[in-house]
Amino acid sequence: MASISRSSALQLLTLFLYALGFACSQPFIGVNYGQVADNLPPPLATAKLLKSTSFGNVRLYDADPEIITALAGTGIGIVIGAANGDIPALASDPNSADQWISSHVLPFYPASNITLVTVGNEVLMSNDEGLISHLLPAMQNMQRALTAASLGGKIRVSTVHSMSLLSQSDPPSSGRFNPAHDDMMKKLLQFQRDNGSPLAINPYPFFAYQGDPRPETLAFCLFQPNSGRVDAGTGIKYMNMFDAQVDAVHSALNAMGFKDVEILVSETGWPYNGDPNEMGPSIENAKAYNGNLISHLRSMVGTPLMPGKSVETYIFALYDEDLKPGSASERSFGLFMPDLTMAYDAGLSKSSQTPAAKTPVVTPSPRPTSMGWCVPKVGIPDDQLQAGLNYACGQGIDCSPIQPGGACFEPNTVASHAAYAMNLYFQASGKNPWDCDFSQTATFTLNNPSYNGCMYPGGST
Ligand SMILES: *[C@@H]1O[C@H](CO)[C@@H](O)[C@H](O)[C@H]1NC(C)=O
Repeated sequence: MASISRSSALQLLTLFLYALGFACSQPFIGVNYGQVADNLPPPLATAKLLKSTSFGNVRLYDADPEIITALAGTGIGIVIGAANGDIPALASDPNSADQWISSHVLPFYPASNITLVTVGNEVLMSNDEGLISHLLPAMQNMQRALTAASLGGKIRVSTVHSMSLLSQSDPPSSGRFNPAHDDMMKKLLQFQRDNGSPLAINPYPFFAYQGDPRPETLAFCLFQPNSGRVDAGTGIKYMNMFDAQVDAVHSALNAMGFKDVEILVSETGWPYNGDPNEMGPSIENAKAYNGNLISHLRSMVGTPLMPGKSVETYIFALYDEDLKPGSASERSFGLFMPDLTMAYDAGLSKSSQTPAAKTPVVTPSPRPTSMGWCVPKVGIPDDQLQAGLNYACGQGIDCSPIQPGGACFEPNTVASHAAYAMNLYFQASGKNPWDCDFSQTATFTLNNPSYNGCMYPGGST
């Protein structure tokens, strides 16, 4: 070593520090670990995989003890969830929350770095008034149980919303929560402010592109060169859809007087594969979205309305979930394959010294410029379709064509009536992509579902 010159020693040191910088896990970048699959690697292999990436956090949809145990000692922040089905008991019986914490948190913490408990998933969109009324009491009991276990302030309590919580989001400065949930949101946000917990929401630029599949929109959604979109309310020019969606949430919080409540992006992502009629899924696009999103978060530039910090963000998803119903894209959001190899390189590896490079603009193959139609996913049970149908027809759209004697009454099935109502609601409510969600039971199609005398509005504009 004596022969090494001072300058090359310095160079080595610089290189070492540089490598160290990239080797750090990022506390604000996480990944969703969904398990609707029958081919996932064992939890310990997954824990090892996560350690090799720059993900600082992982979100579970439940609280699987085997997985929580496998993550012990890794330092990785863990989000665990209580299911919608647990909410009534958590709300009505304080002991139930104590028991939940005793069995899902206390045996593992602090070796396993649990940071957040989500109570329920997209409850406000469920259209189940009983469940909705139980949400806040369940969160309050969960918070009280954590405080009683001396974990208040260490583990936060939140709930997860879909973007359809917003009735308006474009331009971002006009972002507003659906007024139907006003009272509920004010109470929820007051609870979240009092307890320092984040508003968790799922923005998907992918769905925005599906609702407006033009090349310019694709570039805007993928953080690629584009001419930007000026928000007429503020004069701010947005250069990507992620910032626009997150700032719409910020504006909605601000309009309600809660701009100090932190935003957490509990899901966002892009599928690398889909059915032939789906717009957007491809390896190039998934790599561009997730890779550029990670670079954007690492850069700490923030969004125009929240500059200088990165929103805590969980990419959907760690693995494909092969048992999910619906279109092929639903089963193709994974960053890693069951054999632990990368589906594509999104710049996640700790050993990679270069952040994800901006990939060039991908020109999609020519397809009709069309808004498409909103229809139920394949394989959704009738009771869920009925809930979507009831919701859509309860929002002031004209459902007479699916009533007896109407042009769309036949075939007289829940699936057919739900398809008509969901599409009409989507078309009538401004064609926001999240208005074609219905608790994840609906999707877009480019095939006109109209038949005989039954006309589905939408399609070419
Ligand atoms: C737990 O995870 C959070 C979020 O990633 C991180 O900031 C914190 O340092 C972790 N704690 C430990 C003890 O590793």
